Amino acid sequence: MSRAPFLVTPLDAVHERTLFNSGSESLDRYFREQVTQDIRRRVAACFVALSDDQRIAGYYTLASASLMLTDLPATLSKKLPRYPTVPAVRMGRLAIDQAFKGQGLGGALLADALDRAARSEIAAYALMVDAKDELAVAFYRHHGFISLPDSPLTLFLPLATVFPSRK
Ligand SMILES: CC(C)(COP(=O)(O)OP(=O)(O)OC[C@H]1O[C@@H](n2cnc3c(N)ncnc32)[C@H](O)[C@@H]1OP(=O)(O)O)[C@@H](O)C(=O)NCCC(=O)NCCS
Repeated sequence: MSRAPFLVTPLDAVHERTLFNSGSESLDRYFREQVTQDIRRRVAACFVALSDDQRIAGYYTLASASLMLTDLPATLSKKLPRYPTVPAVRMGRLAIDQAFKGQGLGGALLADALDRAARSEIAAYALMVDAKDELAVAFYRHHGFISLPDSPLTLFLPLATVFPSRK
């Protein structure tokens, strides 16, 4: 997807976070001030896209989650086991630095997150995301994500539909 030479790698102490500027104050503040604490506490994993001069061009976080079966569209829930929840991976945050927007990097990081979730040995039914506003909802819908019928800012994409041949 991305044509630029970005390397996606787990966030490390050597990466310079202070200059990151996505234009969203809450996403930038989280990345500057809180993400490393969340990583230490094992409540989030964080991956960064590095440009060829080692600048952080984007980041996203992943964590285990679950979806209530009753929150899913009936067409999908009727095909799932009758447990109260189904396992999921949550992409809690995704942000691209303003200097790197519109180059396909957001889509590439979404693909990277889907790939990591699908490659895990721990099963997950879907990648779910919390969109911060309608623009973000449009971005995720553009990539095939489906809104929960009663919570349109929460969207999900069943991993088996993205990688049908993976066991
Ligand atoms: C939303 C965001 C992640 C998109 O990243 P980006 O690198 O600029 O987007 P890309 O260049 O990868 O776009 C990929 C595709 O999505 C489309 N797209 C981008 N933003 C979109 C939007 N808001 N609505 C619909 N489609 C969108 C692009 O047109 C492109 O389509 P194509 O592949 O068919 O050409 C980025 O703008 C951002 O960081 N925004 C602020 C934070 C935010 O909203 N985070 C998301 C949820 S919390």
